[in-house]
Amino acid sequence: MRIVITLGGSVIIRDHDPQLFQDYAEVLKSINEEHDLFVVVGGGKTARDYIGIARGIGASEALCDDVGIDVTRLNARLLCMALSTFAYPRIPENFHQALEFATSGRIVVMGGTEPAHSTDAVGSILAEFVGADLLINATSVDGLYDKDPKKHSDAELFQEVTPSQMMGCLAGNEVKAGTYEFLDHTAIQIIKRSGIKTVILNGENPENIKKALKERIGTLIIPED
Ligand code: UTP
Repeated sequence: MRIVITLGGSVIIRDHDPQLFQDYAEVLKSINEEHDLFVVVGGGKTARDYIGIARGIGASEALCDDVGIDVTRLNARLLCMALSTFAYPRIPENFHQALEFATSGRIVVMGGTEPAHSTDAVGSILAEFVGADLLINATSVDGLYDKDPKKHSDAELFQEVTPSQMMGCLAGNEVKAGTYEFLDHTAIQIIKRSGIKTVILNGENPENIKKALKERIGTLIIPED
């Protein structure tokens, strides 16, 4: 299978813990034994901190996004280092490069591409671009809930959702650098049009990614007519 994994910055960079990068690298290496892998790394709090400074200086939203992209690429480099020779040694800046680097047979790790969306959107476009069989969104919650589980103890996890239902959940969210919450509109639209099987799961335990290849876990986004 050809698999694209989006790894939230809030997951991988959460405690600035090198061991987490190593743990992720081990899981990715073992998946790579049987599958083609592309990994898109997010920016997390570090990106939001840098974006905050840029915005404070008076930078435009597009420039703030660009600062965020730089941070996602830095995080991608760290994961690349942890993967050592198992990863292609350069970070693609666009989808053509990602496809080109994948011909090496190694894991391709990248960050953001251009302003006005999240790395989740990058992951969904990449999945479409490279003809992925599966898109895994590794985030800091167990999947998609009907309300924010960090604020509401009675929030319920969806086993399955359609892209349209997800759009409904996102209505009213902000579109500003550093605030593309959960899956953003672009990501959902691409998942909708491509019909690529997508699983949202809790990436705080890297083993969950392996689990998703064998069993039902998190929230499955199902195609709609
Ligand atoms: P992310 O959107 O991936 O991080 O990139 P996040 O929203 O903080 O989510 P987690 O915590 O990683 O899951 C950080 C910021 O970088 C810019 C956006 O401003 C985004 O909020 N960015 C990222 C882009 O503008 N384009 C990209 O392709 C990627």
